[in-house]
Amino acid sequence: MAPPEVLIFGAGAVGAFYGSLIAKTGTPVSVVCRSNYSAVKASGFAVTSPQYGSYTWTPTRVFSSADAARSAGVHWSYIVVTTKALPDVSDDSALLDGLVSDGTAVVLVQNGLGVEEPYTRRFPHASVLSAVTIVSASQPSHGKITHNRWTRVNTGPYLPDIGAAAESSHPATAKAKEFTDLLVSGGVKDASAYTHQKLQQVRWHKIAINASMNPSSVLSNGSSNAAMALDPDLSAHLKAVMEEVLTTAPKILGAPFPLEFATAEHIIRSTRKNDSGSRPSMWGDWESGRPMELEVILGNPIRIAREKGYEMPRMQTLYALLKMAQTNRDKPKGSKL
Ligand SMILES: NC(=O)c1ccc[n+]([C@@H]2O[C@H](COP(=O)([O-])OP(=O)(O)OC[C@H]3O[C@@H](n4cnc5c(N)ncnc54)[C@H](OP(=O)(O)O)[C@@H]3O)[C@@H](O)[C@H]2O)c1
Repeated sequence: MAPPEVLIFGAGAVGAFYGSLIAKTGTPVSVVCRSNYSAVKASGFAVTSPQYGSYTWTPTRVFSSADAARSAGVHWSYIVVTTKALPDVSDDSALLDGLVSDGTAVVLVQNGLGVEEPYTRRFPHASVLSAVTIVSASQPSHGKITHNRWTRVNTGPYLPDIGAAAESSHPATAKAKEFTDLLVSGGVKDASAYTHQKLQQVRWHKIAINASMNPSSVLSNGSSNAAMALDPDLSAHLKAVMEEVLTTAPKILGAPFPLEFATAEHIIRSTRKNDSGSRPSMWGDWESGRPMELEVILGNPIRIAREKGYEMPRMQTLYALLKMAQTNRDKPKGSKL
């Protein structure tokens, strides 16, 4: 049997990091780049990591666009989407038209909620996998990938409508397990395959962290995570936002969080101890004038909760303020509104 072909769609920090690890298994891994295309085509990626050392990775094929990838005519076993999730800017699922074929699994390694929906709507017969990662990776210059700490990836099938009983025999469940095995073989020790329900619980749990820390860093003019957790007023605010999410999510998902999931208090305490000065990437996006992942981190959770009859007023306040701040940042000079 031919080995699986993997396509990383949006080979920035996360995509190049995981692509380089999957490639260590001997699996062909290709990439679709954008602004880093020339640098990657010329010299591949140079990765530095406290866990995996320093190495260069030359992808099997480097494409400058989705069109270029389509022209290659490859059957992709996995298309790993690692663009920023910006549904208010573009529907990236449309770019995968003609790349997804029989047996392709689309793996969404992105933060936020609701990122899977455009893909299941567009590709109802494909396996859509949802993945949540903790990684702390960045691309300080084109083709240079810096991994800063440890890494974890949880992957599950996205099957909101079939029920737990039918899930175990669904092809997407087998694909999630196979993808996890690829990561483990590539050296990612902390990679697990989860059920749909547990993966969505992980997504909501991560929202508690991202939706409290990321907007608060931007609104407080670039505070580090530790600085926010150490400040009495800001840490009270972070804890309250986290608790708003952590108490609402179980009502929406119809089950309590697993006991091993960290509480708000625990997250704040461990953030205080990590005084590396790291800031959420949303702050970097804000500072550089790039769009922020506001819709998937704040807007979608608020809307999903509201559809079920729950309000999250602290989240709503952060969303409204940050959305308007972004509008003001981006409006043409001289605009009166
Ligand atoms: N970095 C982390 O430590 C981390 C941790 C956990 C989760 N995440 C999540 O993982 C996702 C990816 O984050 P990231 O940090 O890897 O972002 P990133 O470094 O900005 O990488 C995204 C890449 O996708 C490319 N891209 C976007 N649209 C494209 C298109 N139409 N065609 C081809 N390439 C395209 C971007 O190109 P351009 O340079 O041209 O924009 C960029 O190289 C996000 O949802 C993020 O929240 C990140």
